[in-house]
This record gives sequence, C-alpha cells and structure tokens, in this order.
Amino acid sequence: MDLKIILVTGANGQLGREIKDVSERFPQYKFVFTNRNDLDVAQLDSVEKIVNIHPDYIIHCAAYTAVDKAELEIELANQNNVEACKHLVAAATKCQATLIHFSSDYVYHLVKKGPLIESDPVSPQSVYAKTKRASEEVVSTLHKHVILRTSWVYSKYGHNFVNTMLRLAESKKELTIVGDQIGSPTYAGDLANATMKIITALDTRHNVETRYGIYNYSNEGTLSWFDFAQAIFELKGIPMVLSKTTTAEYNAPAPRPLWSLMSKNKIKQTFGVDVPHWREALKRCLDVE
Ligand SMILES: NC(=O)c1ccc[n+]([C@@H]2O[C@H](COP(=O)([O-])OP(=O)(O)OC[C@H]3O[C@@H](n4cnc5c(N)ncnc54)[C@H](OP(=O)(O)O)[C@@H]3O)[C@@H](O)[C@H]2O)c1
Repeated sequence: MDLKIILVTGANGQLGREIKDVSERFPQYKFVFTNRNDLDVAQLDSVEKIVNIHPDYIIHCAAYTAVDKAELEIELANQNNVEACKHLVAAATKCQATLIHFSSDYVYHLVKKGPLIESDPVSPQSVYAKTKRASEEVVSTLHKHVILRTSWVYSKYGHNFVNTMLRLAESKKELTIVGDQIGSPTYAGDLANATMKIITALDTRHNVETRYGIYNYSNEGTLSWFDFAQAIFELKGIPMVLSKTTTAEYNAPAPRPLWSLMSKNKIKQTFGVDVPHWREALKRCLDVE
C-alpha cells in the first residue's frame, strides 16, 4: 500500500526542523522535506513542483519571520507570506491536499481581560502581522485547511529568544528585557507534536468537515519576556543581572501587542492536543531537570 505523503515547506527553519525530528515517530507517512533551494514557495513554479510530489498533507513551515525588518521589506514579506500561500492553495486544490498553515498571535493585537479566543476580532498592526492575517484569508479559501496561530516560538534550532539569551550570556553580565508584553511561549517541538496529532486526527475521518479552521496553540501558563529570560538563566544556572524595560522604551521598529495570551481550549477539545506548561517545555528544550 502506498503511504500518504506529507510535504513540509521551510524545513530548515525552527519549526521545520522540529517536524523532521518528530517525523521519525510516524512511519505510516512518507515525509518530503523541502527548503528554499528546492521549493521556493514565493515562486510560481512551486505550484507545479508541489503537484508533482502530489502530497496528501502540506505542513507549511516556510515564512518571512523578520518582524522588524518587514517594516521596510514590505514587498518581500508579502511575497513570502501571502503570495506563497496563494501558490500552496492552488497546488493543494489540484492534489486535494489538506494544508496546515501557521499564523501569529500578532493578528489579534487586542488587550482583553481573559485569554484570546479564535473568534475575537483581529487588528494586525505591523507589516508582518498584516501579511500573516492576509495569509490566513488566502488559506481559508481552501476547504481542507487548518491554521494554527502561535506565539513566541523557540527551539534549540535557529533564531529565537532562548538562543539569543544564551548567546548574549557569553559576553554580558547584565541585560534589560521588556516586562510589559504578556503571553506564553511556544516550544516548536510541542507545536510539531500538535501538528502531527491534528494530521492523524484528520486521517481518522470522523467529523472532519467540522474540524477545519483556525486554532490557537502556545504552551500553557502566563508570563512576560522578562519572566521568560529569568527562567532561562535560572534553569541553565547562568548568573545574570536582569532589569525591566517597557515596550514603549524599547521602541522596536514594528509594533508588538501587549497581550498575547491565547486560550487553547478549542484545539484541546477538537483534537485532544496536549498543551504542556511553558516551564516544563523550556526544560525539555534546554535539556535540564
Ligand atoms: N518565530 C516566532 O516567534 C513565530 C511566532 C508566531 C508565528 N510564527 C509562525 O510560525 C511558522 C514557523 O516559523 P519559524 O519560527 O519556524 O520560522 P523560521 O525559523 O524563520 O523558519 C522559516 C523558514 O522558512 C524559509 N523560507 C522563507 N521564505 C521561503 C520561501 N519563499 N520558500 C521556501 N522557504 C522559505 C526560511 O528560509 P531562509 O532562512 O532561507 O529565509 C526558513 O528556513 C511561520 O509561519 C511563522 O510566521 C512564528
């Protein structure tokens, strides 16, 4: 019997590499990992290349993720995040494939009393956030789609807050970290597990029609970037003097939401996805007890 094919785009990014790691536990699928060199999703020829692979599922990890640079590289961000999704939707339509896409908590940009839920209004502010919202609209035109809104993604691979903190600790004894953005980080290893749980659940074909749509996913718990930095250094046993700053003082080129905490109830109830607490996830990423 032919194995079902799962095509992964952007396989050299942090989520793509975590998907590769968890794929070893799913021998019932044939994984095809692609990166910018063999499948540049911003190019029109990507449609034909994907159709030739004829996937049953596409895990679309490729994205333009340089949030601050995007304020100046508007066209590039648009090409890689929005036009690319048009190519994927065209290819998925031809193959009747299911598209798993990733978006961002930045699309909400809403301060509210409780966790953000999927039906809350969206109000993306930065160029990056606007491209991610536009990508959701494109992907939603495909019937068989799942969009995972995620936040503060980190992994042992690639560029992220955890690796930046560890790198800075090699040369600095004091750091100033933003303390007024509240949310929960996402360990890309857990996001990869959640993605595979969704694919295997969709594959069982029970009530599949009602399961397509948008879902939040981050780790459980509530904290600021300052709290996150403190935990990283504490768990690694690195002495570091930390002081707090505000989003306004830090003044990054792209606006950041102050409230990024998302409810994970919908994804837990629909797919039975496991959502570990952020501290336990961080320990696994750092490989500490
Ligand atoms: N990182 C976060 O904090 C965060 C937060 C919320 C949502 N997300 C979303 O989560 C998803 C995964 O993000 P991530 O953190 O794994 O990103 P990442 O580490 O930046 O990886 C993205 C990968 O996509 C590749 N790529 C970009 N444009 C491409 C193209 N046209 N064709 C093929 N490959 C291309 C990049 O290659 P190059 O290195 O060659 O550019 C890179 O390997 C993205 O949709 C992102 O928007 C991320």
